[in-house]
Amino acid sequence: MHLKNKVAIVTGAASGFGEATSKLFAQHGAKVVAVDYDLDKLQAVVKEINDQGGEAIAIKADVSSAKDVEGFVNEAVTKFGKLDIIFNNAGIFIPGTAEEVTEEQWDKVINIDLKSVFLGTKYALPHLKKTKGVILNTASAGGIIGFPQAVAYGASKGGVISLTKAVAVDYAKDGIRANAICPGTGETGLTKEVLEDDNMRNGFLAPIPLKKFAQPDDVAKAALYLASDMASYVTGVALPVDGGWTMS
Ligand SMILES: NC(=O)c1ccc[n+]([C@@H]2O[C@H](COP(=O)([O-])OP(=O)(O)OC[C@H]3O[C@@H](n4cnc5c(N)ncnc54)[C@H](O)[C@@H]3O)[C@@H](O)[C@H]2O)c1
Repeated sequence: MHLKNKVAIVTGAASGFGEATSKLFAQHGAKVVAVDYDLDKLQAVVKEINDQGGEAIAIKADVSSAKDVEGFVNEAVTKFGKLDIIFNNAGIFIPGTAEEVTEEQWDKVINIDLKSVFLGTKYALPHLKKTKGVILNTASAGGIIGFPQAVAYGASKGGVISLTKAVAVDYAKDGIRANAICPGTGETGLTKEVLEDDNMRNGFLAPIPLKKFAQPDDVAKAALYLASDMASYVTGVALPVDGGWTMS
């Protein structure tokens, strides 16, 4: 049990990496505040956690709305009395080059993938200062290397990495650690359609040295490590969980 009695917010908890992380955190003793805007799927995840002896609550929220983010952080603290971990993980992908992506699409990706991380961090910090807590953000391999057809997504994820480092530096004095996880191509809701096409699937697989896609549990295990005391001296890193893609 690496997170016994810890209170953890996980966003994007209805699917993919967030769902797997919520379940693993709960198995390790955390009380999980699961956040997503897909309430039906979220409630199914929370029910599974509670049925298996864990403790979780579901909150429907849009992570790009300051009012919603302030709301779920406050609700977490009201319900469980403190906050130890926030995993800013929810995100979307809209493909396109700089010529193709519209201003509206640009704003949507930046708001959901980058502004959300700022908001989650901002509203969690006063509570994390009291617990010497942990901030975890989901960036992407696409925030480290140039990724085709991903001008807005790559910009948002590069921003998440820089934001994480800035926060790690500013709040180290408070005993707060902030780290980012950079998954490579994963088999989740985000990539389902793309990976159903054989050509696309082979194209995405080709540059990955381990020759397999990231599974939700691969990211959940990295999140557990960074969120726990096992990573007590680790802050400001952007950890690739990508089968070796970004080193090759
Ligand atoms: N799957 C990949 O290949 C991959 C690779 C690198 C990074 N990522 C990142 O991993 C994170 C998790 O994505 P995933 O792959 O598990 O995808 P997913 O689609 O399976 O899960 C994302 C979840 O976020 C939720 N969400 C989206 N926008 C939201 C909003 N505005 N408010 C609240 N909830 C919202 C969705 O409803 C969904 O449940 C994202 O930040 C994504 O960019 C994914």
